[in-house]
Amino acid sequence: MTLKESLSARALAAPQSGIVELVNYARGRQGLIPLWAGEGDLPSPDFINRATKDALDAGETFYTWQRGLPELRQALSRYYQRHFGVERPFEHFFATSSGMHAINLCVQAVASPGDEIVYLTPSWPNIVAAVGISGANPVPVEVDYVNGGWSLDVTKIEKAITPRTRALFINTPSNPTGWTATQDDLQAILALARKHGLWIIADEIYALYYYHGARAPSFMDIQAPEDRILYANSFSKNWSMTGWRVGWIVAPPEIGQVLENLIQYSSSGLTPFMQRGAIAALEQGDEFVRSNIERARTSRDILCDALIATNRVQTRKPDGALYAFLKIDGIDDPRAAAFDIVDKTLVGLAPGTAFGPGGGAFLRACFLRDPKQITEAAGRLAEYIAKL
Ligand SMILES: Cc1ncc(COP(=O)(O)O)c(C=O)c1O
Repeated sequence: MTLKESLSARALAAPQSGIVELVNYARGRQGLIPLWAGEGDLPSPDFINRATKDALDAGETFYTWQRGLPELRQALSRYYQRHFGVERPFEHFFATSSGMHAINLCVQAVASPGDEIVYLTPSWPNIVAAVGISGANPVPVEVDYVNGGWSLDVTKIEKAITPRTRALFINTPSNPTGWTATQDDLQAILALARKHGLWIIADEIYALYYYHGARAPSFMDIQAPEDRILYANSFSKNWSMTGWRVGWIVAPPEIGQVLENLIQYSSSGLTPFMQRGAIAALEQGDEFVRSNIERARTSRDILCDALIATNRVQTRKPDGALYAFLKIDGIDDPRAAAFDIVDKTLVGLAPGTAFGPGGGAFLRACFLRDPKQITEAAGRLAEYIAKL
């Protein structure tokens, strides 16, 4: 038995990220415009960095509260009051070491090995992998691609539910499609969860990246106190903090001790000096978030208008999130095409094959960048497409 063969089946089954594969291939090339990862080009703002530097200077370098600093949890409570109009006392909030960590903990909290978690696809691959590594089985339900847009037939979710189903994982607005659940979709999904006694894991990390109003419809709008909903969220996208690896969970306080234990045995708490930066983001960052989202909207329009004008790209402007998910006439193998496109145009796209069932025909472009750079990228892509 080789060293590798002696590893656990679950570890061996975890797939290489189809996005990172491409990033590793072309990272750092001169003139590259990287639209492959889900992050923007702006560094974290000064007021956030300063709060963290001050905390380091003040010696905040010790073990800390497993659920997060009380001040951070209070700041999260106020954030939900401002943006979602809901009263959630600080006991509902748990600081985590990234959104990815939050997802892992939510999955571990509700599913045992052999259980099933239903999720919507095309999907950010890390969601599916997190379920698989936990020992649970991810069960896909495809969101339908209709006339360049995406729509969910909720009856498909009910058909996917079995006696082993423990949770519905709902990411809205969606990475990679931009599909955004309507209030009716959310009501129908919640009704299913209530009927079958299921948890909902709501990944609403892109809730504020919504292009038809202040924020996307949320389970927060319709949740009753007894509903079983866990929210996995992150500081990454709103405040340009992807490299920080800080996130949070919103959960019923009754399960607080269980979540605290899962935090204890996975990270033993979020770094205290980074929590100070996170508090600054929440307390002083609304204007930064607003301008970040406006910039995303401008760049979304530039990219989508230019590509739609080629008449060879089937896409509608996404309702939410940061991505254009593109079906390009003449491209049958998006993985090979992503390598070819980066070689010939120096624009980095993520192949749809990385996003599971329903995604294989597409390429994903993240548009959270300087509109000038997006104009340049759109021009290079349009030229490439014209030659297909
Ligand atoms: C849908 C979704 N959920 C969660 C995350 C996690 O974000 P992070 O681990 O950077 O906090 C991402 C990041 O791309 C995402 O797209």
